[in-house]
Amino acid sequence: MVLGVTGGIAAYKSVQVARDLTRLGAEVDVVMTAGAGRFVRPLSFEGVTGRPALTDLFSADGAAQHIRLGYDADVVCVAPTTADFIARAAQGRANDLLSTTLLATRAPVLISPAMNDRMFAHPQTQRNLKHLHEALGYAIVGPASGPLAFGEGEGPGRMLEPGYIVQEIGRALGADPAFTGRKVLITAGPTREPLDPVRYLGNRSSGRMGFALAEAAWLRGADVCVVAGPVAVPAPYGPEIVSVETALEMHAAVGERVGETDLNIFAAAVADFRPTDPSEDKLKRAEVGPEFQIGLTANPDIAAETKSLRRGGAVTVGFALETSDLVENAQRKLDDKGFDLIVANDATDPLAGFDVDTNVATLVWREGEPEALPTMTKHELAERILQGVAALLGEGE
Ligand code: CTP
Repeated sequence: MVLGVTGGIAAYKSVQVARDLTRLGAEVDVVMTAGAGRFVRPLSFEGVTGRPALTDLFSADGAAQHIRLGYDADVVCVAPTTADFIARAAQGRANDLLSTTLLATRAPVLISPAMNDRMFAHPQTQRNLKHLHEALGYAIVGPASGPLAFGEGEGPGRMLEPGYIVQEIGRALGADPAFTGRKVLITAGPTREPLDPVRYLGNRSSGRMGFALAEAAWLRGADVCVVAGPVAVPAPYGPEIVSVETALEMHAAVGERVGETDLNIFAAAVADFRPTDPSEDKLKRAEVGPEFQIGLTANPDIAAETKSLRRGGAVTVGFALETSDLVENAQRKLDDKGFDLIVANDATDPLAGFDVDTNVATLVWREGEPEALPTMTKHELAERILQGVAALLGEGE
């Protein structure tokens, strides 16, 4: 891949991008503009990529280098991209090695802008970016908001963090036609049902499985929204996260969105009941007495009760955690909740369930035989589920 570096203060962070990509196994050719060389030395990149950093359009390494780099690249990412380079790219200039590379490539191109917030907001810059995105199909990744090197501004202008740029490159390379541009809705994590302002009924779901699915679908090019209860793990970069607490809030958030999606995945461990009368004040031990009865009311079954709102042709996946009769119970839920696939886990298996990174699942399809899968990580299981779903998404066209 080609990592283009242009002349902004964020160029020092590009060394980290080059290092991360190299460690992931990529062959990274760094191409620097003259401005970039004022901020960071070619040697810094050479040290992390093990390849010469390229700066010269007219080098002795063969006259065709300005073309070859673009031909050979699987992806071209320019990070940071200055306002000047954005303007040059939008005009189709070919006055240095990086701009010729852009013209010569047919690989996906990512542009990661980094500049003063006023320069970014300027109509010239915005018009150029719009052209790069809409006419040329370049992905514009970032900028982020936050403190800038100069000025009072905290508006968008900062380069996206290196880890996120690497994620965006992964998405550009991993695009899957079955998922690209598809809308995916995922529920994840537990719900919390309040007893009083400080206590709740909940469960040990961490959100790992739902987030692994969200990240995997996003990396395949889908437009992903996760309605997440109070999860124990950090949210993935990329998907939109809608945070909720209770089953009723999760139900409302799903109801608002499920009419527009191509794929729904119900991975949340929704509390089936909530305290009927949560106290407005903190319950006092002395007032409650030695025994405490809690009245519970059934929560909506979110998957079942939003079934009629789903778009025709949408594919829906559910999960089931069982302690006995795994396949039979899963098959019943498949019908009751209108799922095309249910991922059934055995709750008695220590390698499956809430607090672990692994899962042991049986895929129970509406059509076809159940598939008992070996123990795998939740990320591997997410990939396996999406591979299976890709075929169904094609059918729903
Ligand atoms: N589910 C849901 N809303 C609920 C309960 C469950 O959307 N109130 C979804 C889960 O996200 C999961 C599927 O339904 O995809 C099955 O969850 P599970 O807890 O196994 O099902 P229940 O219907 O609660 O069955 P059980 O009687 O085994 O508790």
